Amino acid sequence: MSDEPSTNLPPVTNAAVETFGLTRHYGNLTALNSLDLTVNKGDLFGFIGSNGAGKTTTLRILSTFLTPSTGTARVLGHDVVSEADQVRRILGYMPDFFGVYKDMEVTEYLDFFAACYRIGAAKREQTINDVLELVGLSEKKGALIGALSRGMQQRIGLARVLVHDPQILLLDEPASGLDPRARIEMMAILQELQRLGKTIIISSHILSELETLCNRVAIIEKGGLIYSGPVQGVQSQFSKKQAYRVGVADNIDRAMELLRERTEVAVAELEESGDRIRVELADSQENASVIASIIVNGGLQLTALEPEEMNLEDVFLQVTRGETQ
Ligand SMILES: Nc1ncnc2c1ncn2[C@@H]1O[C@H](COP(=O)(O)OP(=O)(O)OP(=O)(O)O)[C@@H](O)[C@H]1O
Ligand SMILES: [Mg+2]
Repeated sequence: MSDEPSTNLPPVTNAAVETFGLTRHYGNLTALNSLDLTVNKGDLFGFIGSNGAGKTTTLRILSTFLTPSTGTARVLGHDVVSEADQVRRILGYMPDFFGVYKDMEVTEYLDFFAACYRIGAAKREQTINDVLELVGLSEKKGALIGALSRGMQQRIGLARVLVHDPQILLLDEPASGLDPRARIEMMAILQELQRLGKTIIISSHILSELETLCNRVAIIEKGGLIYSGPVQGVQSQFSKKQAYRVGVADNIDRAMELLRERTEVAVAELEESGDRIRVELADSQENASVIASIIVNGGLQLTALEPEEMNLEDVFLQVTRGETQ
């Protein structure tokens, strides 16, 4: 690719970020335990874990602020330790807490960071206009940062990491502390950035918002990887018992009786709405047709039979059981 340095040519791969056995100790504590992770180019990747799971530690290593105890990590093929300079050029890192210089004007602040990245004075104004437009704050150019709302300050923080046009963005809980509307706005900006070709890793413990936003997720707990893959795969990998929602034309109580007297059925309970029965089968190898035949052979008319959707949050709770360090 023409936009990558001609020296230290990285191997041709679809990976934007890779970690191999990444481990980090703080004294006696193992914050990261042999983490193997691959994020592909163009991913909007959700990095999920409860408090203390190791998200920030991972992102700080990837952004070269922290060195691993053992193991390695590569960003677009560049080693985060031995090629830290190259990594910093292609990566934008938005920490979970960052000081915003409250007495500075928006443009002054961004100009300062653009200068840090050695963007020439002539180009800086255009760059600042571009990033402010991206985060939807063009009209706040002259405003004091301290006078902006929390959501706007977060967006300025994002604008700041965009000034050097990084290909990879690492965002540590960028939506934390935002109200639902500001959160949705932040998510829309991230989708736009993905559309522009950026690879984005976003950490969060707010799972429901990542479920629809991200194409791939990793779940970590106690510094170890529990799952990595498509969002849809989380459910199939972790939900041990697939539940079904069953509807009948009438006589729902009789349908419950029929289901409950069968050994293939582990659970049959009326949903809160009162018009569906939630059914869990005893054997996960068994499929929904057994439910259909119980109902139909019992002389009732089946009107609905669908797998129960489990959202990522439910799955996550089931998977991690709150095990934090
Ligand atoms: N500088 C440090 N010194 C000692 N221990 C640390 C340090 N930074 C992190 N830890 C510990 O390492 C573990 C992982 O912390 P980390 O900040 O990476 O978790 P996290 O997933 O980002 O959590 P949160 O959701 O709370 O931000 C925790 O047990 C934490 O207490
Ligand atoms: Mg953190």
